[in-house]
Amino acid sequence: MTTVTEHYASHLAPVYLWMAGGLDAAISRGEAEIDLVCPSGADGLIAVDLGAGFGMHTVSLARRGYSVVAIDTSAILLGILRDQVDTLPVRIVEDDFVAFQKHLDGKANLLLCMGDTLTHLPEQRSVEQLFADIADSLQVGGRFIATFRDYSTPLTDTSRFIPVKGDNDRILTCFLEYADHHVTVHDVLHERSGSSWQQRVSAYQKLRLSTEWVAQALQAKGFSVRIEQGFAGMVRVVATAHTHPSS
Ligand SMILES: C[S@@+](CC[C@H](N)C(=O)[O-])C[C@H]1O[C@@H](n2cnc3c(N)ncnc32)[C@H](O)[C@@H]1O
Repeated sequence: MTTVTEHYASHLAPVYLWMAGGLDAAISRGEAEIDLVCPSGADGLIAVDLGAGFGMHTVSLARRGYSVVAIDTSAILLGILRDQVDTLPVRIVEDDFVAFQKHLDGKANLLLCMGDTLTHLPEQRSVEQLFADIADSLQVGGRFIATFRDYSTPLTDTSRFIPVKGDNDRILTCFLEYADHHVTVHDVLHERSGSSWQQRVSAYQKLRLSTEWVAQALQAKGFSVRIEQGFAGMVRVVATAHTHPSS
């Protein structure tokens, strides 16, 4: 079993943009999602994108005036983001996002963790600690927004084989193997090589977080929580910090 960082470095990151349908389409989807959750302008406000990847949401936040700290462990995906930011107010940080506080100068107005990134943490305890750190780092009235897949109900038999993306030269299929608290995600990549196909497989673990557990864990840290239907079958959680946790 590889770590999340190794899995992205050696397997997923090199094909990630292809998997996302190309840069322009992905940035447009990010724009549409940010339109829904942060419709107004935000000059000078501070946002942090946890697990920013190639910047699907970072770019849109920066375009509407947020100063964004974009944190990710994938040098490949952050390289794609770096090529896009030009003069946009984005600080790119290659680090584990659980250490996000050391990259913040003051309190943030918005923290994002989009695209099923929350489930990449190793244990539920790590998610609870992250929520505590987020509560500590947000301005009163600030928001934490996450989208994730609820893996609490296991898929069975052949439904565990998920066709992710395919074209004439490449096919990505995902196979899910369920354990009590984790799901092992096997990413099976077929790539055309001349007249034959090469198969490469890499697997990593994701957390099986239920929507109810995430909502309760956030409420326990003083957030009011709204649950919505996100894009591509994901759950979207919008959590608002009402009081400072230490007040
Ligand atoms: C499924 S992708 C989502 C990327 C982006 N948020 C989006 O919506 O397109 C998950 C991202 O989280 C990053 N990641 C996973 N665990 C991480 C961690 N502990 N610290 C920093 N980045 C992490 C991966 O490198 C990857 O870019």
